[in-house]
Amino acid sequence: MARIKFEAVGKRYPNGYVALDNLDLDIADKEFLVLLGPSGCGKSTTLNMIAGLEDVSEGMLYFDNEAMNAVPPHKRDVSMVFQSYALYPHKTVYENIAFGLRMRKHPAVEIDYRVRDAARRLEIEALLERRPDQLSGGQRQRVALGRAMVRQPLAFLMDEPLSNLDAALRISMRAEIKQMHQAMQTTFVYVTHDQAEALTLADRIVVMRGGVVQQIGTPDAIYERPGNMFVASFLGNPPINFLEGAIATEGETVLFKRGPLEIRLPPHIAEKVAGDAGRTVVLGLRAEDIDAHGERRRRETLQGRIVSVLPVGSDQFLKVTVEGVELFFRVGKEVQHREGENLSLAVNLNRLHLFDKQSGHSLVW
Ligand SMILES: Nc1ncnc2c1ncn2[C@@H]1O[C@H](COP(=O)(O)OP(=O)(O)OP(=O)(O)O)[C@@H](O)[C@H]1O
Ligand SMILES: [Mg+2]
Repeated sequence: MARIKFEAVGKRYPNGYVALDNLDLDIADKEFLVLLGPSGCGKSTTLNMIAGLEDVSEGMLYFDNEAMNAVPPHKRDVSMVFQSYALYPHKTVYENIAFGLRMRKHPAVEIDYRVRDAARRLEIEALLERRPDQLSGGQRQRVALGRAMVRQPLAFLMDEPLSNLDAALRISMRAEIKQMHQAMQTTFVYVTHDQAEALTLADRIVVMRGGVVQQIGTPDAIYERPGNMFVASFLGNPPINFLEGAIATEGETVLFKRGPLEIRLPPHIAEKVAGDAGRTVVLGLRAEDIDAHGERRRRETLQGRIVSVLPVGSDQFLKVTVEGVELFFRVGKEVQHREGENLSLAVNLNRLHLFDKQSGHSLVW
């Protein structure tokens, strides 16, 4: 059992820098929680506080109902994979993975079984007799994962454990970690700056920026209903398109207007901003909600010109200008496009996002 709970937790480093501000977060037992955000936003700091490697400057941290603020790291029974691997340099890969089990006096036969099983899953069986300095970064990272995998702690804490792997290995290791979570039935707190990884692994995602939580929710909620422009732009590939403009009304119709470009707002958005004529707003259009070839029912058509065509294997990204704004979106390969070509785009009105320009907050959710 490990429910991990932050109550108004803050972290101020000795030099006065506030790395985490007023975090309220209740991580359920057996949950897979992902901390997501750009470099320096406080992800490792948060994880290190759970492990007890950094003290809590303000507020309370609980495991189940027990206050942990004053409990030293070795009494917390968590298993951590560090961003910097933290392997024992003089021990072999085998002994690095076995170390935690030896400390806890597990029988040698069981240790051997668990070490070899982890090594097989992580595709490092051939490296068991090497020392860390004889490994690549990605191989070290997998040894660090193996060391966590063989234990059965209250919670797994993982700090960017896949950041040094190539694309193919990263996908297969994600699947391993997901399977590991299902098999172990334990709480996972996982740090990454990779939005795709967060969307794949998480039960819930915490999006952070500058030590402040921006949004907490399921991958679907965070992706479909971003609460502000930062969250909207941090998730999605290619990133969401933003168009600055203003709200306008014509009789009953509520419009987004940018020069001659007008987009009729769908009822669920119109009702929220009907009284805001003249307000400066930012329209958010996800790449997959713009279509150059598909059906146009309940869609708005925009006229654009292709600036560049970027093939990405399975399909192609198009960069198009519409009334001086550049939009990025993805189309299939069945139609060949050329730079300079004029194109009419269908926008899925049901999936528009709208933000207040000033605050960046969503006006829809
Ligand atoms: N010991 C320290 N003293 C002062 N400031 C620190 C200390 N450790 C980290 N910081 C600062 O706190 C902020 C958060 O750091 P943290 O390591 O938690 O970020 P992160 O989200 O893990 O980033 P990354 O993705 O680059 O690993 C950063 O601005 C960092 O410079
Ligand atoms: Mg970090």
